[in-house]
Amino acid sequence: MRRKITIAIDGYSSCGKSTIAKGVAKKLGYIFIDSGAMYRAVTLYCMENKIIKSGKFKEQDIIAALENIDLEFKANPQTHLSEIYLNGKNVEKDIRGMDVSNMVSPISAIKEVRTKVIALQRELGRSKGIVMDGRDIGTNVFPDAELKLFMTADENVRVQRRWKELQSKGVNVSVEEVKKNIAERDHEDTHREHNPLRKANDAVVLDNTHLTMEEQLNFAMKLAKERSGA
Ligand code: DC
Repeated sequence: MRRKITIAIDGYSSCGKSTIAKGVAKKLGYIFIDSGAMYRAVTLYCMENKIIKSGKFKEQDIIAALENIDLEFKANPQTHLSEIYLNGKNVEKDIRGMDVSNMVSPISAIKEVRTKVIALQRELGRSKGIVMDGRDIGTNVFPDAELKLFMTADENVRVQRRWKELQSKGVNVSVEEVKKNIAERDHEDTHREHNPLRKANDAVVLDNTHLTMEEQLNFAMKLAKERSGA
């Protein structure tokens, strides 16, 4: 009998974590949650409400704003994928721009921001049957996850992939700008004080530099089946 498990996918920026997480969730009939979307939505709220101005903010102002931020996920009826809502508004697209990408790492490093977001993540994962991707899912959010993947890829490959993705969404940005953003985020996400990105001891590394999507999915699905006792 196959049991529902928790699958945690962590790794650097633009490694294709969400793509593989979505693929695995679809095949297993699990919920997919993009944990980075929550940090992005908090950042968007603070930008829209001028709590972040010209890239600057006071930590206590961000902390004070948290009580006015309500985050939830709802399934898109067409794609069946969960999309993030900020105070009742779907912000799935608004959170993906470079403006938010450039500010999200310092915002996500604030302890109180993490406490709020992590509580919601744990709530969402209470009944298992979930694939969540992020930076601290296997190490901190779900330390008992039955399957933990740590994704990585060559930096240039990641830059190219991210640049193409942004181009396809109509975001006009240079390769250099994407490269700088990825390098800065990786540095900040691995060096922050609270829940930095690191590989959990029991995580399986998936380096997808030279792998097709199908190969990555097969790799993850084989492990998921083993771990769920199928
Ligand atoms: O996965 P992403 O690029 O959308 O994540 C945006 C930022 O959010 C990332 O640079 C760091 C932060 N983040 C985090 O601190 N912990 C997570 N579990 C997920 C994201």
